[in-house]
Amino acid sequence: MTSLSVNHLLGIKNISKNDIELIFETADYFKEIINRPIKKVPSLRDITIANVFFENSTRTRLSFELAEKRLSADVINFSSSSSSVKKGETLLDTINNILAMKVDMIVMRHASPGAPHFLSKHIDANIINAGDGTHEHPTQALLDTYSIREKFGEVKGKKIAIIGDILHSRVAISNIYALQKLGAEVMVCGPNTLLPKFIKTLGVHVELDVEKALQWCDIANVLRIQLERQEIKYFPSLREYSIYYGISKALLDKIGKPVTIMHPGPINRGVELNSDVADSDAAIILHQVENGVAVRMSVLYLLASNKTPLN
Ligand code: CP
Repeated sequence: MTSLSVNHLLGIKNISKNDIELIFETADYFKEIINRPIKKVPSLRDITIANVFFENSTRTRLSFELAEKRLSADVINFSSSSSSVKKGETLLDTINNILAMKVDMIVMRHASPGAPHFLSKHIDANIINAGDGTHEHPTQALLDTYSIREKFGEVKGKKIAIIGDILHSRVAISNIYALQKLGAEVMVCGPNTLLPKFIKTLGVHVELDVEKALQWCDIANVLRIQLERQEIKYFPSLREYSIYYGISKALLDKIGKPVTIMHPGPINRGVELNSDVADSDAAIILHQVENGVAVRMSVLYLLASNKTPLN
């Protein structure tokens, strides 16, 4: 297979295992390139990409921008806080105005689940979902699973526990889809109040005890508590959360077997993860960030090369 089955990357749910493997193989090539002294290739010369962020981001926005620049694309950045969205413009009007400037691709983060899916039905440009509310964050899941493949050789057969605030996490949902498509076994772990009611329908193990989850898994993907999405209290205090669910070196020592620690960032140190774990050799957190650039270069390149007519 040499091309993706989709014109947009809206989520992991609607792409195939073959798509994921093609993205990984292409990312291998780009990872080798970005480790050379000259890191840039002309693959997307004459392609213009708009990074449209309606929500805060550090890693995803910078990683996409760097990936685009490494591929020689022309790049424009839009942030809703300093735009005319504040004056009442609709999402579709905003995007159509950006596209009128001859933009070929939109990378969008939005607080509303389904916003990129809505756009894909109304505009004539490739769309990449950079996180839509609590729904999906496909490139995060791709870089996470790529990092597991890099460390262990393959994802198939690995046991991954996703620990923390599953209820508000688009990273958890996209990871579950990606890991299962690649043949891994997935467990979610967190307080009952932070586990969505539908979670068992996704075919994952559910565990409330973090020690048991760590004993079960090869890899723990630790998520932060998304306080910005919580209108009610789901647990008594962050201090109590960290006592029952925080991962420390003492806890990992007690488990007595190696567990690889992942985190999509941003980390709330001392809450879900202690510094003695986040900065230890068990953690591959900065490798995830490094791989994000190669994986995003791969997604951008493959979507731009897809010659299927849009819409
Ligand atoms: N992992 C992630 O999406 O981080 P940002 O919110 O900083 O982009």
